[in-house]
Amino acid sequence: MTTHSQDLDSLWLPFSANRDFKANPRIITSAQGHHYTTADGRRLYDAFSGLWTSGLGHGHPAIVEAVQKQVAKLDFAMSFQMSNERAIELAARLTQISPPGFSQCFFTNSGSESVDTALKIALAYHRIGNEAQRTRLIGRERGYHGVNFGGISVGGIAPNRKMFSANLLPGVDHLSHTHSLEHNAYSKGQPAWGKHLAEDLEKLTQLHDGSTIAAVIVEPVAGSTGILPPPVGYLERLREICDTHGILLIFDEVITGFGRLGDAFAATRFNVIPDIITTAKGLTNGVIPMGAVLVRNEIYQRFMQGPPQAIEFLHGYTYSGHPVAAAAGVATLDTYQSEGTFAQARELEPLFEQLLHSFKGHPKVVDVRNLGLMGAIELTPNSTPGARGLDIHKRCFWDENLVIRNGMDTLQFSPFLNSRETDLEATFESVRRVLDKAE
Ligand SMILES: Cc1ncc(COP(=O)(O)O)c(C=O)c1O
Repeated sequence: MTTHSQDLDSLWLPFSANRDFKANPRIITSAQGHHYTTADGRRLYDAFSGLWTSGLGHGHPAIVEAVQKQVAKLDFAMSFQMSNERAIELAARLTQISPPGFSQCFFTNSGSESVDTALKIALAYHRIGNEAQRTRLIGRERGYHGVNFGGISVGGIAPNRKMFSANLLPGVDHLSHTHSLEHNAYSKGQPAWGKHLAEDLEKLTQLHDGSTIAAVIVEPVAGSTGILPPPVGYLERLREICDTHGILLIFDEVITGFGRLGDAFAATRFNVIPDIITTAKGLTNGVIPMGAVLVRNEIYQRFMQGPPQAIEFLHGYTYSGHPVAAAAGVATLDTYQSEGTFAQARELEPLFEQLLHSFKGHPKVVDVRNLGLMGAIELTPNSTPGARGLDIHKRCFWDENLVIRNGMDTLQFSPFLNSRETDLEATFESVRRVLDKAE
C-alpha cells in the first residue's frame, strides 16, 4: 500500500462508509479502456462504467486529446456576459441530438446543479407567464435527483432527506414509486403493471388544484434507487396529465441520457417528450464534470422579454460552459457518433438482460430488473439491511477484480456502452461465484 494513513485521514468520502473504507481502502490509481488499476497493482474490470459516467471506457484517446489541446489553448473564460467557442459548439451539438422542439441548453457542472437549475427554470417560466401561483413541485418516491436542496426536496429517498427534513423546499409533493415485488418481480424491461400509478398526478391536481403546480420531475428509469423501469404507458399518461393542467414535465436524464438506453435520450426511446431534460455524467464521458439542462424553445422564448440589456435569468455558475469541459463534451458526442455507440448499446441489451435474469431462482435473489444497459439484482437482506449488498461489492473487488455497485441490498450494473460480450459474461460469472459464497 503506497498511501500514507495520514493522507487517508484527511479524506471524507461522499455516500460512503468512511470508517469501513479506511480500514480496507479501495484506491484506484489509473484507468484505461474497461479496466482500473489499483494502488496495489491489480487490474479490475469496471462493470459500472465509472459511476454511470464513462460509457465509452476510460481514457478514450479522442477525449483525452481534445482536453489536452483545449487546456493549452483556453483554460478558462468568464462565463457571465461572455462565452467561449467550445461552449457554443457543444450547445449547438446537444440541441441537434435532442428531441424535437428542444433548442437551448444551459450549462452546469453536475447532475445536482442541472436539477436545481431545471426547477428554477420551471418556477421562473410560470412567473414570467403571469402564473405566479404555480409554485408546487412534484417528485416521486424513491426518485434520486442529486443532493442540492431542490433535488432532495423533490427526491424520494427517505434517508437522504431525513437529516434535512425541516429545511426542504415547501410546496413539494410526491407520486408513488412504481416498484411492486408482488406485481412486477422479474419483469424484463418495462413492467406491464403500474400504469395506473400515474393517476397519482391527477389526484394531486385535485388536491392542490392543478393551476398551483409548476412542474413534475421524474427519472424516466429510476436509477440510484435500484433500477425501476417505467410501467408500460406510465410516462405517456404523466405527459397527458401535465398537458391537461399546464404543468411542465421534467425528465431527469442524468443517467438515462447519452446511450444508456440505446438512444440519445430516454425521451426518444420512449417517444415521450418532456419540456425540460437534465443531463450530466455521459455528457463528457465523466472526464470533466459538466451538466446541461435542455429546454424546449417556447420555454427559452418566454424568458427573452423586456429590455435587451436586462439579464433574463439570474442564475448560473462560475464554471457554466467551462471550455475544457465543453471540449470533452464535444469530443464525447463526436465519438458516440463516429463509433455508433448508441447502436452498440442497443445490440448488447438482449445479452445483458439474459445474463441478469439467469439469477432468477437464486436463493439469495428476490428480483431482477433491467432496461437498456441499466440492470439490478435485488437480494434478500441478511440481519442488517445493506450489509449483504456491501459485502458482495467488496468481495467482487477483492476476490474477482470486479467493480460493481450496491445500493443497500440491490446490486447495480451499468456496463460500458461498448462492452465486449465475453466481458459481460465474465462479470456475471464472477457475481454468481461471489453470491454463492457470500453469507
Ligand atoms: C437521476 C440523477 N439525477 C441527479 C444526479 C446527481 O448528479 P451529481 O452527482 O452529478 O450531482 C444523479 C446522480 O447519480 C442522478 O442519477
